Amino acid sequence: MHYLITAGPTREALDPVRYLSNRSSGRMGFALANAAAAAGHEVTLIAGPVALETPRGVARVDVISAQEMFEAVKAALPAADAAIFSAAVADYRPVQPSAAKIKKSAATLTLMLERTPDILGSVRSVFGWHGFLVGFAAETKDLLRNGKEKLERKGCDLLVANDVSQPGIGFDSPENEVTMIFRDGSARPIPRMAKEELARLLISEIESELRQSCGRV
Ligand code: CTP
Repeated sequence: MHYLITAGPTREALDPVRYLSNRSSGRMGFALANAAAAAGHEVTLIAGPVALETPRGVARVDVISAQEMFEAVKAALPAADAAIFSAAVADYRPVQPSAAKIKKSAATLTLMLERTPDILGSVRSVFGWHGFLVGFAAETKDLLRNGKEKLERKGCDLLVANDVSQPGIGFDSPENEVTMIFRDGSARPIPRMAKEELARLLISEIESELRQSCGRV
């Protein structure tokens, strides 16, 4: 099987030296790429700017912005059987990045932001891709209700939801504690564990889902 995995943050330029981004380390996505490759699968890892080594046997495509990640996913998706969107893509970017470094002048500065393309949300509706689709969701409240709604809206087969209001898990942390939400509306809470261990569990879960649905693994 061929996996496409997105990982890490994106950076949205304000000017040549500044950007908007988030605290994503990319660890979850890189652990997933490592686990999928170790299980004998082909892996394309589309990575935002992170300080991590490429896992053995993984083809890595580096991108900076949400727009670049969108283009890279669009190009790689047709070859993939399963796709996991673990990247923390910036939802907004400056409307008009300045070509020159912004000089300080007034006491306040207002930034005008616009939406970035929703990459996961484009997979079914824009790219017309039919493979096994896994989304991530970072929620601070109503985890199950918001997660189920996100799964439906983005056409996912599986949604991995984590409560980012809890300290010590998720963003920029070595551990994660998630709830898997399935298409039939069922949910399975997974106890806190190292991202590497969680990655192995998620890859074997995807394999068993695929085996059940179409015997593809
Ligand atoms: N995602 C994406 N492209 C974006 C934003 C998000 O591909 N521009 C993907 C993430 O990789 C993740 C999923 O969408 O798999 C959930 O992202 P999230 O930001 O939590 O969801 P949103 O739909 O943007 O909803 P909200 O921020 O309003 O909760």
